[in-house]
Amino acid sequence: MTDPTARPAMLISRALPDPAIEAARARADVLVHTGDRPLTKAELVDRLQGRHGLVCQITDTVDAEVLAAARDLRVVANVAVGYNNVDVAAATRRGVLVTNTPDVLTETTADFAWALLMAAARRVVEADRYVRDGRFTQWEYMVFLGGDVHGKTLGVIGLGRIGRAVARRAAGFDMRVLYCDAAVPSPPAGLAATPTDLSTLLRESDFVTVHTPLLPETRHLIDAAALRSMKRTAYLVNASRGPVVDEAALARALAEGWIAGAGLDVYENEPAVHPGLIGLPNVVLAPHIGSGSHDTRIRMAMLAVDNCLAVLEGRTPPSPVNPEALKTR
Ligand code: GLV
Repeated sequence: MTDPTARPAMLISRALPDPAIEAARARADVLVHTGDRPLTKAELVDRLQGRHGLVCQITDTVDAEVLAAARDLRVVANVAVGYNNVDVAAATRRGVLVTNTPDVLTETTADFAWALLMAAARRVVEADRYVRDGRFTQWEYMVFLGGDVHGKTLGVIGLGRIGRAVARRAAGFDMRVLYCDAAVPSPPAGLAATPTDLSTLLRESDFVTVHTPLLPETRHLIDAAALRSMKRTAYLVNASRGPVVDEAALARALAEGWIAGAGLDVYENEPAVHPGLIGLPNVVLAPHIGSGSHDTRIRMAMLAVDNCLAVLEGRTPPSPVNPEALKTR
């Protein structure tokens, strides 16, 4: 900005809760895309001209090309904890700060991982459909039998914030907790969990829940071999990023009974879902809503706007992903 009295210009790539838009408008000149679909790449580049800040979502791909074309951009504030939709290295090279929304969504997302786990184990969605279809005509002793949750073994892959919150909840179900995370050699104080390697975790767990970020080394971490090594009575839950699981292999594993069931919130090519999964009764499918509570979606939006405004006003943002970008400016 050449004129120090000018308000910074911000693009909000998709509608957010009103309090967040109002907070942004109080301190910046804000353009909000209110369409019912994400901006295309060309539209995003076009709307970023002359904008200093971008508040975006996981459906916006902010790659090197977008960053190069957005010459005035100083901050990309992703409204999500995951930021695999942003080329962080390219942003750092251009001195563009990237921020995310950790912490505020941890407990809500952990709640939802448990919702998927419970729904898959106790066949809640199948049973709901049965009642709606008018098929509950008499009580039956042997219908919709599922897997017990209490007293079983929970395997947590990735013991970051959300993985820990999921693991903590297992105490209420008297579960043994195993986890696999090279960055966490011993469990945090107060958490009864045992570190182990991935193959032991897969072999011994009754429920495997994935909480890793999407990185080159976690892509297809759960592949056909991993699925084959799980118990036939086990369940897989994924509320992290779709490509961590090989979806075609999972469809086969569920169809052929390598494992008992799964609960998925995320997919390899969202919003597409592998066609092999759609017709299967033993998988619960949600449309990427892990952090989707009223309160948390407001908190995430407020934090993203806060992050964006902080950078535009020369303050340190609350949750930077690449603070080193400040040195490249
Ligand atoms: C949602 O997927 C997030 O990363 O916050």
